[in-house]
Amino acid sequence: MNTTSPRIVPDTMAGHATAAAILRSGGLVAFPTETVYGLGADACDDRAVARIYEAKGRPSFNPLIVHFADLDTLKQHVVWTEEAEMLASAYWPGPLTLVLRKQPHSPISALVSAGLESIAVRLPAHDTARAILREFGGGVAAPSANRSGQISPTQAQHVADSLGARVDAILDGGPCKVGVESTIVGLLDKPLLLRPGGITEEDLARTLGHPLTVRHKAEAISAPGQLMSHYAPVARVRLNATDWEPGELRLGFGDVDCDLNLSASEDLVEAAAHLFDHLHRLDAQGGSVIAVSPIPHEGLGIAINDRLSRAAAPREG
Ligand code: TXA
Ligand code: MG
Repeated sequence: MNTTSPRIVPDTMAGHATAAAILRSGGLVAFPTETVYGLGADACDDRAVARIYEAKGRPSFNPLIVHFADLDTLKQHVVWTEEAEMLASAYWPGPLTLVLRKQPHSPISALVSAGLESIAVRLPAHDTARAILREFGGGVAAPSANRSGQISPTQAQHVADSLGARVDAILDGGPCKVGVESTIVGLLDKPLLLRPGGITEEDLARTLGHPLTVRHKAEAISAPGQLMSHYAPVARVRLNATDWEPGELRLGFGDVDCDLNLSASEDLVEAAAHLFDHLHRLDAQGGSVIAVSPIPHEGLGIAINDRLSRAAAPREG
């Protein structure tokens, strides 16, 4: 329980405009969807997205779902497919999330999809969510609006109890109808049910005209190909570098001489905001080693270090 109270915004046109203005200025707004309350930020603003992870206190960068008001805007950011069209026309707006390839020039923050080349997108059905998204105009990244490890919130008060003043405002749109998160279908290859939810596997199979591959949790270890893959640079990553070796690409933190700095002022929100973009940019230079300054293991630094140690782990296969 967080004792500081967040700002509660009413479900009115003025309230929707306030919510959109807070999003535009890089703030965090919790808002109702038909499934659960989401903790929203401008999906194109690296820093705002980093603040989502900070507010949730997640120890890792789980990729986020980007919410849109309309299909035309959504399509600008993804590579649309025939199966996406079938599922979208049957279930959107509604509790279905599609994982699609990201358009290479989409301005959506690399942190949203934790550096992957795919993004999860959805068009929620909730009137309040749609009103805020329409007013805002772009994509809003939003995980469930709870601290990491707590249950998903279906009422504004749950959000206030869990996140307190870590969220700039909560749009109180009453209780959510569905109460379980959206169904997630991966469309990068054959349709893959990644998470069961508001729309059933049978419904999806009927719409597609064939059964889907289902990712069962128990299968995860025996079928690693079905696990959500993680972004890994081509270069080898050397962690906790307190000095640089000749030829290394230097990813700094703090007051150090380097090629790119995650945050010269040692601000962990800024460092998280830069993390994937800087790794991509250094990797694109084609060197064999990226050396990274030590990152403090506290707050967002825990998620940053989790990501860096995965990037540094020896490759399988
Ligand atoms: O109903 C919902 O989906 C709610 C409301 C707020 O929209 N949101 C939600 O978000 O449940 P979250 O962050 O709690 O769950 C997002 C899920 C995670 O399990 C994540 O791994 C998956 O989506 N995901 C996001 N992007 C992905 C990607 N590119 N590839 C595979 N999985 C992805
Ligand atoms: Mg969640």
